[in-house]
Amino acid sequence: MTAYQALLERLPGEPRTWLVTGVAGFIGCNLLETLLKLDQRVVGLDNFATGHRRNLESIRAAVTPTQWARFRFIEGDIRDLPTCRAACAGVDYVLHQAALGSVPRSLEDPITTNAANIDGFLNMLVAARDAGVARFVYAASSSTYGDHPDLPKVEDRIGRPLSPYAVTKLVNELYAEVFARAYGFRAIGLRYFNIFGPHQDPEGAYAAVVPRWVAAMIRGEPVYINGDGETSRDFCYIANAVQANLLAATTQDPEATDQVYNVAVGDRTTLNDLFRAIRDALAGRFPHLRDLQPIYRDFRPGDVRHSQADIGKARRLLGYAPTHRIAEGLREAMDWYVADLAPGR
Ligand SMILES: NC(=O)c1ccc[n+]([C@@H]2O[C@H](COP(=O)([O-])OP(=O)(O)OC[C@H]3O[C@@H](n4cnc5c(N)ncnc54)[C@H](O)[C@@H]3O)[C@@H](O)[C@H]2O)c1
Repeated sequence: MTAYQALLERLPGEPRTWLVTGVAGFIGCNLLETLLKLDQRVVGLDNFATGHRRNLESIRAAVTPTQWARFRFIEGDIRDLPTCRAACAGVDYVLHQAALGSVPRSLEDPITTNAANIDGFLNMLVAARDAGVARFVYAASSSTYGDHPDLPKVEDRIGRPLSPYAVTKLVNELYAEVFARAYGFRAIGLRYFNIFGPHQDPEGAYAAVVPRWVAAMIRGEPVYINGDGETSRDFCYIANAVQANLLAATTQDPEATDQVYNVAVGDRTTLNDLFRAIRDALAGRFPHLRDLQPIYRDFRPGDVRHSQADIGKARRLLGYAPTHRIAEGLREAMDWYVADLAPGR
């Protein structure tokens, strides 16, 4: 039995109170669904900057009324310290996901990204510390590897940041480290590598590549690849990210805290491979996609060329064992994509 399977068996008998910030967003609402299905109490905080009420509504539909009654939602902004304090009151575990994602957004508007990702983060750290929470787990990012050339990426070897977004995520790690040293505050950072799955927003200029391409293919729109398509990423299905959060929040091993971990699969997939994987996953239902070809255009500034994680540290210290590689993730998410993204929705 894996550490995660054991945790899933144990948690329903040991209900705790979890705060999920960014709960109306992609990763946040998936965390909410898993926690409610495990009979946990959840406080959610979100200002709907990029998240959606419809995500919360879908989770309500996926759980029982009794489980939904254990969820309390606060509409509010992490840039406001009193709001963060109110959200942290009585909480055992914080899963801090709220932030403005996207490298291009941060290049266009570094001030707004900085305010949410650094001021908001610091507010959450102070509020969680003062509330005496047992653990603070936060969304870090693979963008922190910046221009470091080594592959696969190992946690303690990082380069210089390539975007304002990457700066904010690095600063988060620095603040967490200083809070550990100065106040003995227990935090764990999860460096997510291109997470994908149900509820990830396909719309808008800053949409992530997987939902954007799936939506374009289903709707018969062109699919663009920035660059030559040989740019690579370690695409990681949402179930793996949820697993990492739950393991990080509940680990009893003192060595495992005050750390950052790669959260990925350990695979390297080029954008050309990804295009084919999505097209093949959809072709059974949409035969017109069989011969679809992408349109290549310029590289995007601020993007790193290759990314692949070494997940040995998370395996060793957290017992993390990813359950889905990219094809399994795409297969599992396909019903949701088709139901949610089909024309007319
Ligand atoms: N999805 C990925 O591949 C990925 C990769 C690396 C890191 N991350 C990080 O994971 C976290 C979650 O990302 P996601 O993909 O779910 O993005 P998302 O945009 O779907 O979710 C972020 C949520 O935070 C909320 N939010 C933003 N600013 C806020 C504020 N000031 N106050 C309160 N709520 C606010 C948004 O409304 C949204 O619901 C972010 O911190 C992101 O930087 C994600």
